[in-house]
Amino acid sequence: MKKYFTFLFTTLILSYSTISIADEGMWIPMLLGQLNEEEMMAMGMKITAEDIYSINHSSLKDAVVIFGRGCTAEIISDQGLLLTNHHCGFGIIQRHSSLEHDYLKDGFWAANQAEELPSPGLTCTQLVRMEDVTNQVLDGVEENMSEADRNKIINENIDKIKEEAVEGTHYEAIVKPFFYGNQYFLFVNEIFKDIRLVGAPPSNIGKFGGDTDNWMWPRHTGDFSVFRIYVNEDNEPAPFADGNVPFKPKTSMKISLKGAEKDDFTFVFGYPGSTQEYVTSYAIEMITDVINPIRISMRSDALDIIGAAMNNDDLIRLQYAAKQAGIANGWKKWIGENRGIKKLNAIEKKKIFEAEFTEWAKSTPERMEKYGGLIPGFESIYSALEPLKYSESYLIESGFRSDFVRFASSCRNLVNLSETKTPDKAKVKDELERLQGNVPGYFKNYNPEVDKKLFVALISEYYDKTVNDGGPKPDIFNLINKKYKGDVLKYADDVYKNSMFASEEELTAFLSKYKSSGYKKIEKDPAYALAMSLRDYYFNFLRDGINKYETELDSMMRIYMKAQLEMQPDKRFYPDANFTLRVTYGKVDDYYPRDAVHYKHYTTLSGIIEKEDPAIYDYVVEDKLKELYASKDYGRYADKDGMVHICFTGSNHTSGGNSGSPVLNADGHLIGINFDRNWEGTMSDLMYDPDMCRNISIDIRYCLFIIDKFAGATHLIEEMTIVE
Ligand code: ARG
Ligand code: GLU
Repeated sequence: MKKYFTFLFTTLILSYSTISIADEGMWIPMLLGQLNEEEMMAMGMKITAEDIYSINHSSLKDAVVIFGRGCTAEIISDQGLLLTNHHCGFGIIQRHSSLEHDYLKDGFWAANQAEELPSPGLTCTQLVRMEDVTNQVLDGVEENMSEADRNKIINENIDKIKEEAVEGTHYEAIVKPFFYGNQYFLFVNEIFKDIRLVGAPPSNIGKFGGDTDNWMWPRHTGDFSVFRIYVNEDNEPAPFADGNVPFKPKTSMKISLKGAEKDDFTFVFGYPGSTQEYVTSYAIEMITDVINPIRISMRSDALDIIGAAMNNDDLIRLQYAAKQAGIANGWKKWIGENRGIKKLNAIEKKKIFEAEFTEWAKSTPERMEKYGGLIPGFESIYSALEPLKYSESYLIESGFRSDFVRFASSCRNLVNLSETKTPDKAKVKDELERLQGNVPGYFKNYNPEVDKKLFVALISEYYDKTVNDGGPKPDIFNLINKKYKGDVLKYADDVYKNSMFASEEELTAFLSKYKSSGYKKIEKDPAYALAMSLRDYYFNFLRDGINKYETELDSMMRIYMKAQLEMQPDKRFYPDANFTLRVTYGKVDDYYPRDAVHYKHYTTLSGIIEKEDPAIYDYVVEDKLKELYASKDYGRYADKDGMVHICFTGSNHTSGGNSGSPVLNADGHLIGINFDRNWEGTMSDLMYDPDMCRNISIDIRYCLFIIDKFAGATHLIEEMTIVE
């Protein structure tokens, strides 16, 4: 074991000797000094690795947080002011909106701290420190152990490490595997629980171009929103309370008005969610040939239905805004991903690598023994896994798309707690209160017609595509088959008509009079029966099978990853994204998307005027913005070319989760907020192409221009540290 770690350690640490010009890579902040600093400086960086991540003094990492569950944000004032994307704050802005005060449509700006809006449930997570705990995690693990034994030891070790790491503090700890379990890091976090909405531009700025422009360049979206972290008197995290005060951070980001020129060094500091750069051709084939096409087709249908309803009704537009954005975002990304994989010949490239790998593995008997079976093993597991993933993709995209089904499903706990011989009254009461608390939110964003249309269209497609394949099915398919002769609409009519989950009054009345024996009524409810049928099928049939294969794949990937590190000792490897803090660096850069086309690296306010179309919701331009444009009232936010720059592209390797991440220049000053990738580059989660992959950021000067000149929120500008 020891020998193996020494090997891994030297591979990870020493392979920096071969320096390539980086674009690709999501690097571990703690290891920048060893792996990247030299190259970053060669590319123009003027600060040090210690300035980015340090546990001895404050560093930029103290101004970066996880925002909510899937975004990044940065602290930009000594009063805990936060910047993130508009699309990251979207759900919260929607929650505070109604037809009377529609902050999504009109924007929102708190005139002072007292007006900032609490957002219960929203948290921000800040990294206190990280540590390589590989040796402790793998202590007691032997090379030839069964996976079950291995995992048992690892989990016990992890529990111990976590406990010790946070003893006597209010911090929380998490240990995550890197390189598929060849390395482990501990993260000690501080989690803030009182986060308030400070400001957001109207959607026709924050989401300008909507889904038409999403994932695309040239882009003119002002995708930012502003929040603030509140804490108790001791400057420590606390749940919302009137007496809470703005957070005083160790450091905050300085904002540069200098802008960015082509080829300027930049880095992005944030939380990329998940990439799969080291998997086999079989994995990519399954994703691009089986899973993505199902997702794309199901979501096209869902989007047609939701889109039509939203276009005709302001209330539905508000109710379905966040759901629609989420569905559309994945849909468009996967279309781009499939195209990119094809254009890049990614599967072919993987196959060539696998052939080389096989040669390399064959070249000594020890390698042959350790690694010889890997590639054929992957091939056979993926062919067994594929049909399960096929069904799973349909189920995920259909059954649980309906709010009605999902809400019914969320009553399962209540039923389970109630149906025991002697129900625990306190637990039943807690669970009941939880559900009652969710009822208004569920109905606020629920339209029965839209929900039913979605359900019918999606379940029909799932039913049609799988009804004849001979495999096991959810029970309701039998019911639909026998009682309704395959007519999903007739079935849905009955369910939606007879279920209490379709009526707020009925559901509220039922829950308010609930006694333990009430579980029988829930069980008899057709929507609940439907939800349970899908759920049982999912867990009892699909998940068991998928888990079995995925566990095998996990352990094979661990070995395959180790083998790849061993086979390419001169290559500098970065671990796949796993929603831990990373630094990715590159430069401000343009690109050539296709034959004869060149895309400049930035866009300007003229482009917004050019795209204006009062007839299309996503391309409406506010009068105020047009006035500022006409009078060229740009203040200090114009570029030296005299124009307000809106967005810019760069060769920083980012992924979902990097939304809201600070984009910094050579001095470590904030020049932009990352919010997207280009469509031609969305395959970078599976394979990166330096010529084609670009991250898209909003120019920080456009944010300030909107805050200052458009919204008049000058008190916020005064809080910031601005470098002219
Ligand atoms: N594509 C960006 C990301 O992946 C932004 C999505 C939000 N915008 C939208 N039009 N749906 O999150
Ligand atoms: N918009 C993405 C997010 O929400 C970032 C774009 C990407 O996937 O690179 O994290």
